[in-house]
Amino acid sequence: MNNQTVLVTGGAGYIGSHACVELLQAGFKVVVVDNLTNSKPESLSRVQQITGKSLTFYQADIRDKQALTEIFAKESPSTVIHFAGLKAVGESCEQPQLYYHNNVYGTLVLTEVMTNANVKQLVFSSSATVYSESASKQYTENFPLGACNPYGRSKAMIEDILRDLSAADQIKQTESPWKIALLRYFNPIGAHQSGLIGEDPNGIPNNLMPYVAQVAIGKLPQLSVFGDDYPTRDGTGVRDYIHVVDLVKGHIKAIAALAGEKFEAGGCRAYNLGAGRGYSVLEMINAFEQVTGKTINYKISPRRTGDIAECFANPGLALKELNWKVEKNLDDMVADTWNWQTKNPHGYA
Ligand code: NAD
Ligand code: UFG
Repeated sequence: MNNQTVLVTGGAGYIGSHACVELLQAGFKVVVVDNLTNSKPESLSRVQQITGKSLTFYQADIRDKQALTEIFAKESPSTVIHFAGLKAVGESCEQPQLYYHNNVYGTLVLTEVMTNANVKQLVFSSSATVYSESASKQYTENFPLGACNPYGRSKAMIEDILRDLSAADQIKQTESPWKIALLRYFNPIGAHQSGLIGEDPNGIPNNLMPYVAQVAIGKLPQLSVFGDDYPTRDGTGVRDYIHVVDLVKGHIKAIAALAGEKFEAGGCRAYNLGAGRGYSVLEMINAFEQVTGKTINYKISPRRTGDIAECFANPGLALKELNWKVEKNLDDMVADTWNWQTKNPHGYA
């Protein structure tokens, strides 16, 4: 049992709710700050149901400096996991100001409040989308950055801000310097094994797996496979899918690493969280059909603007420095997606 309090921004969301389960099970006290703009408080009731433990929830916006300052004063967290953010690529192209205000300005406010409260351990939700398209399909952390949409650029800007904050402490040789892990997620899918929490997209899903699950259950008539003429093994896009429970375990490992030798003198380091292998869209459909016994109605459609052919992680640094790697396989990801979908056909509603 450890008595550390972890403040989780965006903790009511898809990944955040799974992180709360792991944190509570690891013995942390958990404080969630979420404005519920893309989530429902029911997810947090379910977290407490799964773990048999309670957490503290504040419905607040991370851009509200006064509210955040009061929460930090009351709860005295030692570490923050920062999930809060908007994440729809298409929406970010239509409303870039909204994305920069929410994601970038929100992080500025959060880090100001953290500085004032002298809370300087941070785990940040970044994304593989910060990388520029590369000749190599397997991305290593030192690859060139160059996001190609406002959502991705908001993540890249936040990474820059956090690196600068850490560098400033190094220059000043501050006594308690920033310790920051930038976790670059590949494609999180799946749900908690209980089927009590999972991804509950608003409206029609943008991402492949929730779309496939809604076709399988009959909510949507047909999947469009965006392009079958990519230079990949079957012509469809290849991505590194990672089980959300594996992903959030990476955050617990990151908290441990921040307290360890590697970060003793402070620092800001990026880690890929992916499995290190990719699956194509057709392979994902096939896996879904095998595990569920359902036929997925699909058609081949034109490529989606902005998509790349193939990418997957080199997760070697996370293994070396965080002692983390994925444990679950494709069948687990599909089975858990389906378990959540069938038990909650209308999400949390
Ligand atoms: P989500 O939308 O389910 O969760 C984000 C949560 O943040 C929501 O509960 C939302 O209400 C909250 N939020 C948003 N803006 C806020 C604000 N200003 N103040 C307080 N709360 C706010 O998304 P998710 O899939 O759980 O993603 C979590 C994080 O991981 C995001 O930062 C996202 O960009 C990042 N990420 C997600 C993916 C993915 O495929 N899901 C991939 C890479 C990175
Ligand atoms: N796809 C389809 N049909 C669909 C949806 C997706 O064929 O209806 C294909 C896409 O073309 C792509 C693959 O399925 O080849 C995966 O697409 P997703 O939308 O599920 O995921 P992306 O890789 O495009 O993007 C996701 C997140 C981003 C994040 C990125 C990298 O949505 O926010 O992973 O982490 F930045």
